[in-house]
Amino acid sequence: MANINANATVERARAAVDLLRADALQIHLNAIQETVMPEGDRSFAAWAPRIAEIAAGVDVPVVVKEVGFGLSRETVALLRAAGVAAADVGGRGGTNFARIENRRRDPADYAYLDGWGQSAPACLLDAHGLDLPLLASGGVRHPLDVVRGLALGAVAVGVSGAFLTTLLDGGVAALVERIRTWLDQTAALMTALGARTPADLAHRDVLVHGGLRAFCADRGVDTRRLATRSRGSVPSNPSPRGNP
Ligand SMILES: Cc1cc2nc3c(=O)[nH]c(=O)nc-3n(C[C@H](O)[C@H](O)[C@H](O)COP(=O)(O)O)c2cc1C
Repeated sequence: MANINANATVERARAAVDLLRADALQIHLNAIQETVMPEGDRSFAAWAPRIAEIAAGVDVPVVVKEVGFGLSRETVALLRAAGVAAADVGGRGGTNFARIENRRRDPADYAYLDGWGQSAPACLLDAHGLDLPLLASGGVRHPLDVVRGLALGAVAVGVSGAFLTTLLDGGVAALVERIRTWLDQTAALMTALGARTPADLAHRDVLVHGGLRAFCADRGVDTRRLATRSRGSVPSNPSPRGNP
């Protein structure tokens, strides 16, 4: 995927796709990063119409992503109306661009934005059922987070900071090894949950606790349905002995 910001013109979007012979184009949204960045943008009104223009004007699917503050249900609905192919919720909890940009400020006067945004699980729950494929990223720390993202409806999960750190510490070989380990362990966790495919995870029960449960209550997300949803599904690998 090529990657541009939401101010880019259609011509530049096409150029980015051509340059990389990309299969898809990502447009990143980073309003809070821009806000904390001393030289950052201060107006975002052009983003929605520009995204619609780019989605109509390039030949590859367009994926809009956040960079670590999350996308709300309302934003995802707006993106669907703009004609994008998928949204990556890019939630809070990993790389924190408010903190990073704040370090470049003197005095660091946006330090209070450290906890801004919503986690990827919160965003996935919030945007569920909007008829737009969702990707999960932001704060993915280990294979269980991958499984959580898939179980909460993401069609794919993305990792940035955790893999970048491995690459910087140990080089390419270490990163390849880490990715292999993640793949093995993701498969092991799927086995433990009785899921033959990643898509099967979307039929496993999910229990939501603590602050995320309160978020769901406020946003009208039905956590009871999630906690019992396997009752209504037919497993793709029914056990011959009829075990649950
Ligand atoms: C060094 C660095 C550079 C990044 N540059 C971009 C970028 O150009 N475009 C983009 O969409 N996201 C960019 N990101 C954000 C990541 O794609 C991702 O959304 C964010 O780091 C949250 O995921 P994480 O918690 O797994 O790190 C960058 C992240 C890092 C750490």
